[in-house]
Amino acid sequence: MRITVSGAGYAGLVTAACLADFGHDVVSVDIDPSKIGMLQAGTVPMFEPGLDEILDRTVAAGRLRFTTDYAAVPSETEVAFIVVGTPRYEDGSVDLTHVFAAVEQLAPRLSQGSTVVVKSTVPVGTTAQVAQSLAELRPGLGVFVAANPEFLRQGAAVQDFLTPERVVVGVDSPEAADAMRLVYQPLLHADVPFLFTTIETAELVKYASNAFLSTKLSFINEIADLCEASGAIVEDVARGIGLDSRIGSGFLRAGPGFGGACLPKDTQALLHTSRQFGTGSRIVGAALDVNEERIHRMVGKIEAAVGAPLAGRRVAMLGITFKADTDDIRESPAVEIVRELVEAGALVRLFDPQGLERAKSVVPPQVEFAADAYDAMTGADCVVIATEWKQFGTLDLDQLKDRVANPVVVDLRNMYDPATLAAAGIRYSSIGRRDI
Ligand code: UGA
Repeated sequence: MRITVSGAGYAGLVTAACLADFGHDVVSVDIDPSKIGMLQAGTVPMFEPGLDEILDRTVAAGRLRFTTDYAAVPSETEVAFIVVGTPRYEDGSVDLTHVFAAVEQLAPRLSQGSTVVVKSTVPVGTTAQVAQSLAELRPGLGVFVAANPEFLRQGAAVQDFLTPERVVVGVDSPEAADAMRLVYQPLLHADVPFLFTTIETAELVKYASNAFLSTKLSFINEIADLCEASGAIVEDVARGIGLDSRIGSGFLRAGPGFGGACLPKDTQALLHTSRQFGTGSRIVGAALDVNEERIHRMVGKIEAAVGAPLAGRRVAMLGITFKADTDDIRESPAVEIVRELVEAGALVRLFDPQGLERAKSVVPPQVEFAADAYDAMTGADCVVIATEWKQFGTLDLDQLKDRVANPVVVDLRNMYDPATLAAAGIRYSSIGRRDI
């Protein structure tokens, strides 16, 4: 099929590359000339495991190309995916500017019977507005719409796209349903569960999923606090509840709170939408409150480990991305923790395997950047593990002790067995377990 994908961010680029890998003929359009320039030159503008191979393969096969110019999109496009960013406003509502700008740019390139698919995360009712807008821009053309939310996780995005647990498609016409079956034929063939539903339902499935995941995390994080106070062990509690299939074992790792470009924003947006509809979402609101307060709690943990006041204390910060295997630092708890530490007068020296470049324009200017984890530790009073990069779980503890006098590790991702650190003579504070 001839497919256009608007937006070459994490989700858009993965969508374009994977659809080309399915055998479709794909044009990826993005208004950012530097991003498209990099892609045209064969460089991937973000870190996402496995994406470079699939891009190389599909570009070499002539099935994927990049442009900033909608006029270069062939007018025989059969399916146009919109996968542009939907940032949030202060009040939690969603900025749909990029979605409707893409609709406007795509409209002249559409032909009779093509389908416009909204894959961006958009509030319930948006895809219907897209249909309305298309009817106004191209009256009488007969274009179909679908809502097809994306559930991929950064860091595992390619794998999630190629082997999803489910595909949700909201349609209001048999034509759009048929087009989506053709797009996803390889997944249908592989017996991936498909849910064909109404457009509004598909839109809401996405928000309900992310808000549920946020709630699960805030729940386990609060249980972790209770474990610390009571002497229970959060991993064992998580395992104990997760073995009940009604609860499920996934997404129960207690940590510094959830971040990233999606969970905080989408959870806030669901709250906003439910208020607009007058239904309220108290549970979701509480999940957000717990997450926000968690940053102070994490800084309090560091303060307790290193000794108050934090002013003048040297903190080696390991990790700035919102999770491992990505270079993304958007809404990362680590960024907020660094800000609070610097505000309290701590001297922060930071290392992250992929996030330093993006961190430079975001963290306070006082923060120093280290070449590796050991460089970050040199002369520190305390080592904080904020992101679960594998290399932070295999630190050479002798080197750590050489570089940090009276060493203490605050592990916000529970990467170590407390007994190991105790045996090495390192004080250790983690999440949902008693300090050693
Ligand atoms: C999330 C969802 O998991 C995806 O299904 C969804 O498609 C995506 O948002 C989106 O809406 O585009 P992502 O933002 O890539 O994916 O990250 P997650 O893996 O969900 O992690 C989110 C946050 O929760 C991170 O800060 C992570 O460290 C934290 N987390 C996750 C935990 O603290 N514990 C866990 O057990 C899992």
